[in-house]
Amino acid sequence: MKIQNKHYRTIWPDAGDRTKILIIDQRQLPHAFIIETLSSLNDAVVAIRDMHVRGAGLIGATAGFGMYLAAVCREKKSIDVALTEGAKLLDASRPTARNLKWAIDRVLLAVQAGKDDTEKLEICFQTACEIADEDADFCQSLGQHGLEIIKELSKSKKGGTVNILTHCNAGWLAFVDYGSATAPIYAARDAGINVHVWVDETRPWNQGAKLTAWELQQENIPCTLITDNAGGHLMQNGMVDMVIVGTDRTTHTGDVANKIGTYLKALAAKDNDVPFYVALPSSTFDWELDNGHDIPIEERSGDEITGISGLHKNGKVETVQLTAPGTKALNYSFDVTPSRLVTGLITERGVVAADREAIHRLFPEK
Ligand code: MRU
Repeated sequence: MKIQNKHYRTIWPDAGDRTKILIIDQRQLPHAFIIETLSSLNDAVVAIRDMHVRGAGLIGATAGFGMYLAAVCREKKSIDVALTEGAKLLDASRPTARNLKWAIDRVLLAVQAGKDDTEKLEICFQTACEIADEDADFCQSLGQHGLEIIKELSKSKKGGTVNILTHCNAGWLAFVDYGSATAPIYAARDAGINVHVWVDETRPWNQGAKLTAWELQQENIPCTLITDNAGGHLMQNGMVDMVIVGTDRTTHTGDVANKIGTYLKALAAKDNDVPFYVALPSSTFDWELDNGHDIPIEERSGDEITGISGLHKNGKVETVQLTAPGTKALNYSFDVTPSRLVTGLITERGVVAADREAIHRLFPEK
């Protein structure tokens, strides 16, 4: 998608030296646009763990390139050993997003076809590129399926503006391109439908305030930032036509893990008959877990709650303390919305009920 009218992806190999992988450092957005170079497995692990990159799809794509970097920097180890070690470190970098393990396993499987280390290295690179390309393609396709839902809402409003609420950032910054929750919105804009997005600020990391609001503005999509607690009030007052969120992991039974606070939005949506959709590429499905309660929920430092970062008058991004010293804070990063609260899942193959049979009908190979 575009930044100041120039097209970017969120991760790409350096055109002059493909052993260097480039990312946008999302900790600095929207105040500074900084491209960072990943040159080693450790760089990739740190980028995921410390959220230079974040969001399910982009975590997966970074893990794919992280595996490739593990192979590039293997020194005297065999590629197989370097990849096994890399897989372990990458897998531990963040727990909730399913795409992480999915991408690691995809590289491990693909590389088995290589006859020697030279071939295996090439397979690692090609597979990482395929993961990134597929992520972008799947998001674009799911956008077309989500567009049909927005079209219907627009018709029922006789062409009036469709108001969509989203939580966190499941935009293109969370993927390689297009985003999941945002892809139907971009598709609706391209189809000439009037859309407006309510953007939850998404405490404590403020992905909505810092990232979603910024990326929508860059794409000229009308949007308004709201506090995390405002959504219920807006729904009660007929100001929300649909909710679209992303997900970090969705069980094959339709339970959805997403940024903390999503569950409360789903409850409010149910109470107000507002359709609640979840958009995801199939790489986010967990085909093994039957119950959302078993999804590992990341717990991050309480410092993210007791402090807040933003642009200082000195032009630098700085963190200030919000609370009295010593205030205890508990920081669960995700919650689980049970399938019964989900109107539908928007995937690259179509929109499907959040239910085991329906999901398996759409993905019979699983
Ligand atoms: O902690 P993050 O920023 O990596 O969390 C990911 C998210 O942005 C959301 O949970 C998002 O809605 C789903 S990821 C596409």
